[in-house]
Amino acid sequence: MPVAIFGITNDALNLVVNLLLLFLVVIWLALVWWTYADAKRRIDDPMLVGTAAVASLFPFVGTIVYLIVRPPEYLEDVRERQLEIAAAEARLAQLEALTCPYCEGDIERTFSEWQGSVFQQIRGATCSQCHMPQSTEMKPVANVPGAPLRRTHSHAFPGVDLALTDFPDKDNQKNLVEAFLATTLQTAICVEPFGGGSKVGVLLDNVATGHFWPSGAAQDRRAWFELVAYSGSNVVYQSGVVPDGTDLITGADPDLWLLRDCMFDAGGTEVHMFWEAADYESNTLPVKTTFDPASPDFYKTHKIRFFPPSGAPIVPQSGQIDRITLQVKIQPVGRDILDDLVASGDLDAGVRDAMPTLPVGGMLEWTPATATQTYIDRTTGGTVFCATNTNINVQADKFPAPVRTRCSP
Ligand code: HEC
Repeated sequence: MPVAIFGITNDALNLVVNLLLLFLVVIWLALVWWTYADAKRRIDDPMLVGTAAVASLFPFVGTIVYLIVRPPEYLEDVRERQLEIAAAEARLAQLEALTCPYCEGDIERTFSEWQGSVFQQIRGATCSQCHMPQSTEMKPVANVPGAPLRRTHSHAFPGVDLALTDFPDKDNQKNLVEAFLATTLQTAICVEPFGGGSKVGVLLDNVATGHFWPSGAAQDRRAWFELVAYSGSNVVYQSGVVPDGTDLITGADPDLWLLRDCMFDAGGTEVHMFWEAADYESNTLPVKTTFDPASPDFYKTHKIRFFPPSGAPIVPQSGQIDRITLQVKIQPVGRDILDDLVASGDLDAGVRDAMPTLPVGGMLEWTPATATQTYIDRTTGGTVFCATNTNINVQADKFPAPVRTRCSP
């Protein structure tokens, strides 16, 4: 005898009602499970998850109430959002930490110099294309059977900075830097017979760097020009002649051509350390901005500087100038800066003494015989005789070398 629910005695109807009830029970149990599972994804507290599951035991209404009061987000989304906010905060903090407290003190400009140069354009070169040259051939790079052949990169990234204490591959590093420096500048010594003596100029083009030169810590670099003029064996003029490791700032000769950034504090006083800088003035050599010889900017990097800077002729007491030598040099960090750091107890004197003075290319020599190139001085109409080891175009437009006015030398 089948159980008569709701007093129904008709067998067929009874079966339908029984199935319906079974269906409702299954739905109810599924909802209890669903409520528990959903609550676990949204609620951190196991007590509350349990409460939600127990409440849903109250058929249907429990789950409906849960649906009304449940948290709107999954825990996973909440965690992801919190992570994103934390990451954004970390990025901001890093940016703030990288920004100088004085926003005007725009030192270490290598990247922005490159951005303003011809090299950031198509056909240009990235930092690594110049500093980490690629092999032209495909080579095995990984020591694994079947590894594909690839182009290899040098990872030496020579600039001017060298290890001063023990470091692997130290000598090779120095050779790479010197080789890199050797092709950086094109120079010429140009002499015009004038006023009973010789008007001596140096032509210069920054041809190889993808940024100004010197660059990077240009406030610490000391790049200068050692020029000596002879009459026979007598030195009749000289500038920049100092022993290696000399402080270039104190007691410099008045004609010294020293390339560097000067830095100033908010009151305009010259300072030595980059963390004191609110402002700077630079006379570093600009970078190329065009590869187009027809552009008026093409020769803007082509600089001229006279010795003495006024352009007055050098007049020997007897005879005439028959030989001039030029050697460009650079101290990666100036002796004056290092002396300061030693004095303040921040640097070991041994490190200071290990700082090299590097030659920038070889020595250039002017004699009437080596002065094979000429141009006409547009102001005097006189012929100028130039000697060069490079293919600098002496006849092209020349622009005065950048000068600083707020600090010297
Ligand atoms: C077109 C080639 C070229 C590109 C592009 C280039 N450099 Fe250089 N870089 C040079 C040459 C050449 C030197 C000069 C050699 C030297 O000073 O030792 C140099 C020097 C340096 C120095 C030493 C600083 C100094 O006063 O000489 C640093 C640091 C440097 N580069 C960083 C960079 C960075 C960073 C980039 C990219 C933003 C870059 N370079 C892009 C060629 C390049």
